[in-house]
Amino acid sequence: MEYIAEPYRIRVIEPIKQTTRAQREEALAKVGCNPFLLKSKDVFIDLLTDSGTGAVTQAMQSAMLKGDEAYSGSRSYFALQDAVKDIFDYDLVIPTHQGRGAEQLYIPALIKKREKDQGLSKDKMTVISNFFFDTTQGHSQWNGCKIVNVPLDTAFDTSTKGDFKGNFNIGALHSTIETVGAAHIPYIVSTITCNSAGGQPVSIKNLKEVYQIAKQYDIPVVMDCARFAENAYFIKQREPEYSHLTIDEITRITFQYADILCMSAKKDAMVPIGGLLAFKDRSLDDVYQECRTLCVLQEGFPTYGGLEGGAMERLAVGLYEAMREEWLASRIQQIQYLVDGLEKIGVPCQQAGGHAVFIDAGAMLPHIPQDQFPGHVLACELYRIAGIRSAEIGSLLIGRDPITGLQRSSPAELLRLAVPRATYTRAHLDYVIAAFKLLTKSCQHLKGMTFTYEPPVLRHFNAQFETIV
Ligand code: F0G
Repeated sequence: MEYIAEPYRIRVIEPIKQTTRAQREEALAKVGCNPFLLKSKDVFIDLLTDSGTGAVTQAMQSAMLKGDEAYSGSRSYFALQDAVKDIFDYDLVIPTHQGRGAEQLYIPALIKKREKDQGLSKDKMTVISNFFFDTTQGHSQWNGCKIVNVPLDTAFDTSTKGDFKGNFNIGALHSTIETVGAAHIPYIVSTITCNSAGGQPVSIKNLKEVYQIAKQYDIPVVMDCARFAENAYFIKQREPEYSHLTIDEITRITFQYADILCMSAKKDAMVPIGGLLAFKDRSLDDVYQECRTLCVLQEGFPTYGGLEGGAMERLAVGLYEAMREEWLASRIQQIQYLVDGLEKIGVPCQQAGGHAVFIDAGAMLPHIPQDQFPGHVLACELYRIAGIRSAEIGSLLIGRDPITGLQRSSPAELLRLAVPRATYTRAHLDYVIAAFKLLTKSCQHLKGMTFTYEPPVLRHFNAQFETIV
């Protein structure tokens, strides 16, 4: 495929600086071999996340000047509400400071409603997703729920390709509901694209089936939609029924198949900070009211959530900018380019998804057992070789069973290279590929790692490590 030129000009630049290997060795040693803890000034290419790290557009920046900073009833809130209604056809909007800000509202509210409606109080609830993102899982568990992921059997098999590897396994969804009982399931989360499965898209057909099943059992569906525009782009490319539609039209159809929308706007909507919680209509009015109350307590008055007026204006524009098809094409092409370049030099990858490249570290370092964290070993070496920061998605991230304390088994040992939007050029991607070329030559000599400090929860953020010699 021919590489199309970027359909934008870059007019604000941020300097980055290369360091020496000795400087990087020292910087990594100082933070206990955890790249999460590095100072960003010590990183040359930062592929830790695509969240809030991308470029913002001219239109978004200029919209900020229109901010109405009124504590309640801000004009900027209504601009955001209008955009959400227009794009997703959802009536009720609560802005939040980011995705997890919305999660801390809807998750306890939906659980409370289920308990009340079913006359249950202390029974354990179960929630289901194609695959929960860590914070969604964390909030659900924090509120006492058991979580069940029902991805496709092939979702984590990097050697198989598929158009919609992020889809729910419908059979597993059905059997989980039957086993657990719908009364004990306060919500189902459809994650688009499915971040944990490698940024893989979910088809409208699958979302529709999930929604129909949920309706049959009267279970609310939440669309976790940080990367809604990338998902719509893949639908246009891969789901023939929708190939003649625009990204906006596909987006509207997609959101028919949920009751609530929860968005980290730091991804596709390109804002450095911001999130959304929205309800399709008044059918879950009690939950909406509860979320408004929790919002006052935790985020701020419901017409600003955690955001200043200018940030709500910027987000309202960002939601539209996210759906520019030529930008989406350029972005997805970057991910594909990186996957193709890596595969050409023998680096095993999950097929290209939306926002990141997922390298099969388990296959690359077969001599390192899962509990010695091959993905993390690779992340450290990539930083030492080239100053590139990335993140492990595997046993380290998945952590221990909270009851038994035993390491939980991870479906794969991956290394994620998340690509911020419109931030790095093709030369940067070539640099990443060149770094992997060096890495592939030495990786059989790399050794596993173990903790020198292991925090009790969300350990990957603050843990410290040493190499096992
Ligand atoms: N849902 C999904 C699918 C996400 O990818 C994220 C964040 C969240 C919810 C939480 O949103 O960070 O705004 O509070 N993902 C980032 C990442 C952090 O690197 O993938 P948040």
